[in-house]
Amino acid sequence: MEETFVIHGDLLWSDEDRELLMLEDGYLLVEEGRCAGVFPTLPESLSELPLEDYSHCLVLPGMTDLHTHASQYGIRGLGLDEELLVWLKKYTFPEEARFSDLSYAKRMYTAFTEDLLHGWTTRAVIFATLHTESTLLLMDLLEKSGLVTCVGRVNMNRDGGENLCESDAETALRDTEEWLDRCKGRYTNTTPIITPRFIPSCTDDLMKGLSEIAEKYGLRLQSHLSENPGEIELVKKLVPAAASYGAAYEDFGSLLNPETPAVMAHCVYSDEAEEALIMKHGTYIAHCPGSNMNIASGIAPAARFLRDGAHIGLGTDIGGGSTLALPVTMKEAMQSSCLYWRLCDSNVKPLSFAETFYMATLGGGSYFGKVGSFLKGYEADAVVIDDTDTRNGQALSLLERLERSVYTPSACRVSAKYVRGRRLNLS
Ligand code: GUN
Ligand code: FE
Repeated sequence: MEETFVIHGDLLWSDEDRELLMLEDGYLLVEEGRCAGVFPTLPESLSELPLEDYSHCLVLPGMTDLHTHASQYGIRGLGLDEELLVWLKKYTFPEEARFSDLSYAKRMYTAFTEDLLHGWTTRAVIFATLHTESTLLLMDLLEKSGLVTCVGRVNMNRDGGENLCESDAETALRDTEEWLDRCKGRYTNTTPIITPRFIPSCTDDLMKGLSEIAEKYGLRLQSHLSENPGEIELVKKLVPAAASYGAAYEDFGSLLNPETPAVMAHCVYSDEAEEALIMKHGTYIAHCPGSNMNIASGIAPAARFLRDGAHIGLGTDIGGGSTLALPVTMKEAMQSSCLYWRLCDSNVKPLSFAETFYMATLGGGSYFGKVGSFLKGYEADAVVIDDTDTRNGQALSLLERLERSVYTPSACRVSAKYVRGRRLNLS
């Protein structure tokens, strides 16, 4: 494909103030992988450029999934009448143990990658398992797909059970560095990310060692924070000196700094002190409302985080969450924010549609740099949604078509996707 071209369609995108902008029948100029302007009519000077024509389709910035577990694709929807700690032991850990078998890993990681490729997502931050070979296999598949991702080989040396536990911190750290060594020079779209599962799974020396590795290699880190009451109680027992769960991560050095921010999934029970700490380190909150409802974790104050200026995006959290479809996560975020307002704090108004769209696109996308918008200079990630089969009654406005599509994504078809100005092969 030419490096400079024009995408034509019904464009919708967020700006940095979380306003939803739109241009029906508009033109998006892409130059060397970046957005270079939107136009209501095609300027004469651009008329010779190649035109990718998606008349009557919605053209959106690609969405970012800030937190998901590729290794749990095989258990999505299963055992969701259990709470986190029981569910992990009964369903998740036995499933992840299967990834020592490369042929199983290949089957499930291929399914995961194909489904991610065909959805609305262009970027994702992903957990694999503690197995180096199958983690590299996942990274190879994702690299080939053209999606841009961060992938973590999971560290856990405590309480994973017989078949899913690293033997000790020293071995875990050595294996992690060996994995990083094998990633070197192998990928352009796929970046390793340091991944302590969560504090209950990692001894203090492993936690500290992983933060040191992240700093040494200039890498980022992902984990889980304040997801579930039982988990939070356990962390209090395991790290009694820490002022809070978040403070324990801070003490281990896991929150890093705003140049290489950590992603922390959930933050359902983060109070204002924990929120302040998150903001101080520039940490990204991966809000995973579907998962939080499925395994009875609770209702995260996402609207408060967003309006306070914290970095926040959406996560599907497969298999606590049951779908990779980010429009479904958008719907769940709106629903859960309504419940938070009604049941928890009447000062925190529900998320608006524009705020939720922002979280799915620019909010999470900013983790990857200038990503998640059609503003000038942003990387040209776009998803083309054919919504002709949404069975609309009255004529809908452009905004209403997007709302309808987000709430009924299975009636829509993803007809094209672009990442950094490159069209992905969806066949
Ligand atoms: N906390 C630690 N591991 C996990 C996991 O696999 N899923 C969820 N939802 N929470 C976790
Ligand atoms: Fe998770």
